[in-house]
Amino acid sequence: MKDITARVAPYFTAGTRRYTPAARAFHWISALLIFTVVPLGWIFAEFKKPPGGPDLYASLHKTLGLVILAVILARLAYRAMNPPPAQPGRMAAWERVSAAISHWLLYFIFLAMPISGYVMSSGSKRPISILGLFDFPKLPMTTDIAETAKQIHILGQWAVYAVVLIHVAATVWHLAVRRDAILDRMLPRQVNAE
Ligand code: HEM
Ligand code: HEM
Repeated sequence: MKDITARVAPYFTAGTRRYTPAARAFHWISALLIFTVVPLGWIFAEFKKPPGGPDLYASLHKTLGLVILAVILARLAYRAMNPPPAQPGRMAAWERVSAAISHWLLYFIFLAMPISGYVMSSGSKRPISILGLFDFPKLPMTTDIAETAKQIHILGQWAVYAVVLIHVAATVWHLAVRRDAILDRMLPRQVNAE
């Protein structure tokens, strides 16, 4: 049997270049917000029709969605000023390309979702209530544009599921199959337990 350390060691000895603490904070805060906003969207879409239905979910969904938009824009600005660590040298060309494409897709989708939600909601009579504190200003909107935005938002959810699933599956693959230090780059430095 092949010596596992010989196969795995180069990934570690190449030196783990981590994301900065701020980049890691941006990443895990975005992940937490996204895993919260999606179920709120399901609940809200399911229950919004009954009269006097729970506006709480609408307000939470829209507020969190707008927070995500702000976080992703701030994250992209931070990224432009603080480029991420170089990809590990041992990655094949196809792995580098697919990692880059899937990361840009994630950014794109998490801009497209809140923007389409905001445009759709701007064309609706319902308020964009920020936790019941105040109403977020709406854009001037035609019914056609609002309807297109609604289609994008409803269909876009499938892109969210697909790309997030691929992203998490890729992380599991790096962790369990490749056994390299990719996840480590997005975590604080680990103390050796031995
Ligand atoms: C990252 C941000 C967002 C994600 C991932 C997201 C995701 C979702 C999902 C999964 C649904 C349920 C769709 C369905 O089951 O049919 C939904 C519905 C909805 N979202 Fe969002 N959303 C986001 C941001 C926003 C924002 C910022 C607004 C408005 C300001 C918004 C407004 C709505 C509305 C009005 C619906 C109900 C659509 C309908 O059934 O008529 N969303 N969203
Ligand atoms: C449990 C869920 C998640 C896990 C385990 C995970 C794991 C990771 C890991 C390990 C990396 C580092 C890849 C590298 O070293 O090059 C990464 C990067 C990234 N993740 Fe996630 N992630 C999760 C959820 C998400 C979500 C929901 C988003 C949506 C915005 C996201 C967006 C990104 C982006 C854009 C990058 C690339 C960062 C950059 O180089 O600009 N992740 N993720």
